[in-house]
Amino acid sequence: MLYQTYQTLRYRTQHKVMKYVAMALPFPVPDLLQGPGSVRKLAGRIQADGLRHVLVVTDRVLMDLKLPQGFLKSLDKSGVEYTVFSDVQPNPTIENVEDGVRAYRDNKCDGIVAFGGGSPMDCAKVIGARISNWLLPVRWMKGNFKVLLPIPRIYAVPTTAGTGSETTVAAVITDAQTHEKFAINDLKLIPKVAVLDPELMVGLPPHITSTTGMDALTHAVEAYIGLNGTAFTDENAEKATRLIFENLEIAYKNGKDMTARNNMALASYYAGTAFTRAYIGYVHAIAHNLGGLYGVPHGLANAVILPHVLEFCRKEAEHKLAGLAVAGGIGKHWEPEEALAGRFIEKIKSMNKNMDIPPGIKELKEADIPLIAARALNEAHPDYPVPRIMTLEECEDLVARLLVPGNGKA
Ligand SMILES: NC(=O)c1ccc[n+]([C@@H]2O[C@H](COP(=O)([O-])OP(=O)(O)OC[C@H]3O[C@@H](n4cnc5c(N)ncnc54)[C@H](O)[C@@H]3O)[C@@H](O)[C@H]2O)c1
Ligand SMILES: [Fe+2]
Repeated sequence: MLYQTYQTLRYRTQHKVMKYVAMALPFPVPDLLQGPGSVRKLAGRIQADGLRHVLVVTDRVLMDLKLPQGFLKSLDKSGVEYTVFSDVQPNPTIENVEDGVRAYRDNKCDGIVAFGGGSPMDCAKVIGARISNWLLPVRWMKGNFKVLLPIPRIYAVPTTAGTGSETTVAAVITDAQTHEKFAINDLKLIPKVAVLDPELMVGLPPHITSTTGMDALTHAVEAYIGLNGTAFTDENAEKATRLIFENLEIAYKNGKDMTARNNMALASYYAGTAFTRAYIGYVHAIAHNLGGLYGVPHGLANAVILPHVLEFCRKEAEHKLAGLAVAGGIGKHWEPEEALAGRFIEKIKSMNKNMDIPPGIKELKEADIPLIAARALNEAHPDYPVPRIMTLEECEDLVARLLVPGNGKA
């Protein structure tokens, strides 16, 4: 008990320090190209920046769908050479990064275009980090501010509305040897330009639309209920929540609804703006480990875990959850906070249900729960400024609730 009090004090002190450090940090803001068709302006911008040969980092699915085709043609027209590197897998690995580094060097590139979801964007960021910090192994850069030298220019073109990686300090990489997923956080990883073009998202299948959208919501919620939010991050999280509540289910049902897609692209960007300054929480800590161990898609894991973590910290976060319910348009400020917070959690559950997101993780094995819980807390403590500190036992209990009956036995 005494030890627990000491730990809580130690974490809370660290959170305070981090809050003031984050407030003082000069977060660069990417130049935005925004709205339907905005990707068509990117080649001109790259040419104007004086680049001669860019590495386009994407994935095979997107190449098969020919999604980058129009952009590649516009590079041709602008006289900018390019090499396509499409060997990025979902939950990108250290090997993916090293292959990309080779492609960059072999072709004497001088900048990077990250074209895809969070996986290509994160892989592109770490390729850039390795190019200019060639003595630093990927694993060594895990954690905060370990990217020592500035990286080549990154132009980010998100094709999912979820991670917000186009504006964040983070890149999440998996060590395929240990099945561990870890984040590299550094201001130098923030892209120089972000293109928010909803036309690139119309073909996103419904189940990826829903789960990536719930990732964005998780960013907004974790940034908002954590202890390190500021007026600026709160405002961004509120805007994101409102847009997601109003548009995600529409985009899920009708992917061609350009207004909904545009609003989701903005929501993802706002949520990224919030969490990169105010940090994340236990939902992400557990989701990263389900991703590392079983390859569970990041957004799916977050969507399933989110209501459980909110139930866990409901009392401590009640005031903030109530505020987010009002900002999200599902309640009035004069209603009792307890009712508003409860409604907020119910809203998330109903969104999951309406979008066919399952209540559990089918890959999860009972025997792995102690490892997942230990790794999740190791990730979250002492960095994540969560409203309620979780013990190992509580984390194991929470992860056990994600088991799918009959399918979770080792
Ligand atoms: N850097 C950050 O700040 C940050 C934040 C959250 C998550 N992440 C990381 O991002 C990764 C997840 O990214 P994601 O959720 O965007 O998924 P993803 O990039 O892995 O893409 C998921 C699937 O969707 C496909 N896809 C992407 N865009 C498409 C489109 N427009 N049309 C059709 N198919 C499309 C991809 O080919 C892929 O098969 C995880 O590794 C996660 O840890 C990073
Ligand atoms: Fe996320």
